[in-house]
Amino acid sequence: MSIVSRKEFLQRTAMAGSVLLLSQLESFALTKAEKKIKIAIIGCGSVSGQYLPHLSKSPYVELVSVCDIKPERAKKRAEEFNVPNHFPHIDQLLAGPDFDLMVTLTDMQEHGRLNKQALNAGRHVWSEKPLANTYKEGKALVDLAESRKLRIWGAPAVVNSPQFAFMSKALQEGKLGKVSSAHAHYGHTGPTWSAFFYEEGGGSLPDLGVYNIATLTGLLGPAKSLVAMTSIVTPDRAVDDKGKIPVKAEDNAMILMDHGNGVISHVQCGFNYFDPYGHEGKGQDRPTIIIWGTQGNMALVGYDWAPYGVDMATRDHEQSQRFLPDPGTYVWQQGATVISESLATGKEPLINVHHALHVLEIIEAARESGKTGKRVRLQSEFKWPIV
Ligand SMILES: NC(=O)c1ccc[n+]([C@@H]2O[C@H](COP(=O)([O-])OP(=O)(O)OC[C@H]3O[C@@H](n4cnc5c(N)ncnc54)[C@H](O)[C@@H]3O)[C@@H](O)[C@H]2O)c1
Repeated sequence: MSIVSRKEFLQRTAMAGSVLLLSQLESFALTKAEKKIKIAIIGCGSVSGQYLPHLSKSPYVELVSVCDIKPERAKKRAEEFNVPNHFPHIDQLLAGPDFDLMVTLTDMQEHGRLNKQALNAGRHVWSEKPLANTYKEGKALVDLAESRKLRIWGAPAVVNSPQFAFMSKALQEGKLGKVSSAHAHYGHTGPTWSAFFYEEGGGSLPDLGVYNIATLTGLLGPAKSLVAMTSIVTPDRAVDDKGKIPVKAEDNAMILMDHGNGVISHVQCGFNYFDPYGHEGKGQDRPTIIIWGTQGNMALVGYDWAPYGVDMATRDHEQSQRFLPDPGTYVWQQGATVISESLATGKEPLINVHHALHVLEIIEAARESGKTGKRVRLQSEFKWPIV
């Protein structure tokens, strides 16, 4: 096998997007030392405490820099995880030691702007959800990445779980007969640490509903249209960083999606759901996603981001059976690690940016439908089935 330079490899991997075949990608080979993807993290708050331990265990990852506009947070993470550089601003991060992939973990409202700046500086991007504030902004990022022969991906990573794969295969194999309906829900009483969750551009749809929307569209196919209702249940909140604030983004939402072929699904999410499992979801072992068909039904046990099995009952086996009680190596915070491995090995991941864009279009359309009371048609699609 031929040995290519690190830069050349990354460029060729990026180009591979949807153009090169897997077999061609596999023909690249890197020396052992080159195999690590250099990573910079921007946003050193709550979720970075989940990402960093996972990334630092990966053989494909070299942590180069961390950055936060609250410099003491970047310094603390650098010390905790032996990251050699820390910066207080993206400009300094991008001008600092070279890296391949920026991992964006800031306030949601900042993602689009920061992701664009990283792409313009020649870096690949993994972004926490949402990828951008609007579908239009997200699409422009994907186009920019393509034009610069770079890659961008967005959370969530729910399609990576073995439970998702099991459900997808069961549907493809017709185990449920003709699929008719699905329901998914996720909520808790809301984050307490940062105001952005409740400000314009925040909300329960991009923070919570995003998981269920990704799962249901991933299982049932892209949605063609939707109707939705959104509301604000708690008009003001007390948060750690800003004290008492008015809530501007929806903290309660329900969406009905039409997937074509008669399939209708429902997602509900909110920041006003008392749930003894709380934000951590620890111990949640009841179904949160159910899919019905003419010959059977199946339910995902636990949350789609932390699944504990799939219960399935069919005409042939009416007694519900539990499959896959173990998520294996899947954890919700694995996205950037999985992407690093893909960049290093040239193997396309299951996570696809066009799926993330479709989810973003749904979130925006749900808000529009909630405001106008009208059904909204959707334009975007993604390669389906995923598994
Ligand atoms: N906290 C979780 O458990 C969790 C889980 C999954 C996904 N997420 C997602 O992760 C993202 C971050 O959430 P969080 O809970 O960690 O928030 P957080 O408020 O704890 O952390 C965000 C950090 O980003 C920093 N920041 C904001 N703007 C910046 C900028 N322009 N440049 C550099 N740093 C900047 C803030 O100072 C803060 O330290 C959100 O998109 C959220 O939806 C969070």
